[in-house]
Amino acid sequence: MNVFEQLHARFYDSVTAPMERRGLAERRVRLLEGLEGDVLEIGAGTGANLEAYPEAVTSLTLTEPSAPMAQRLRTHVAAERPDTTVVKAAAEDLPFADASFDGVVSTLVLCSVDDPGVAVSEIRRVLRPAGRLAVLEHVVSSGRGRILQRAWEPAQKVIGRNCHMTRDTRRFLEIAGFDTTRVVDTNIPGLPHTVFPVISGIAAAAD
Ligand SMILES: C[S@@+](CC[C@H](N)C(=O)[O-])C[C@H]1O[C@@H](n2cnc3c(N)ncnc32)[C@H](O)[C@@H]1O
Repeated sequence: MNVFEQLHARFYDSVTAPMERRGLAERRVRLLEGLEGDVLEIGAGTGANLEAYPEAVTSLTLTEPSAPMAQRLRTHVAAERPDTTVVKAAAEDLPFADASFDGVVSTLVLCSVDDPGVAVSEIRRVLRPAGRLAVLEHVVSSGRGRILQRAWEPAQKVIGRNCHMTRDTRRFLEIAGFDTTRVVDTNIPGLPHTVFPVISGIAAAAD
């Protein structure tokens, strides 16, 4: 573990607090409101989605590969939802059997994983038939914003711990067999849309 990893975990909640207040927290609630049954969240960070899970989610498993993030996550879980399972794992190598979950959640994670193609295939593998992926991810711009994204990306990778600005996450989802019809283009409240365009919604595991 390096010092940047520790600092990222230490300051994550305070850096994101203004965005949460300006609408991101509400966006999380709306994204997760239709989930039910057995749900897995990848890259759960400090647990920003914990309060947004509806009662219909009967079993919740959170994965997080970073030790300092996982430590904070466990503290939040103990206070807010103690029946939750926390597992230290990367999205590219999920330690679960095929078809284990009714829903998977990925919020602001696929920008940071080492291999988004493998991560999305793993999500597809652990979802049951007709399972749903709730996704909220900042993605590559389709317009001139891409120039700004390319310029800012090297700094963002350091500040955001491997956070890429130019990931075409919708494309990765479609290649892995997800129907993204209900995944809409939107923004992160408080961040410039040109540099941080977002996709958000429910991707269905297509047959
Ligand atoms: C920007 S934070 C988002 C945290 C949380 N999902 C949220 O919505 O606030 C990115 C998270 O992805 C995690 N992460 C990085 N690489 C990962 C990987 N290969 N697999 C799963 N999670 C990863 C980081 O440790 C961090 O917790």
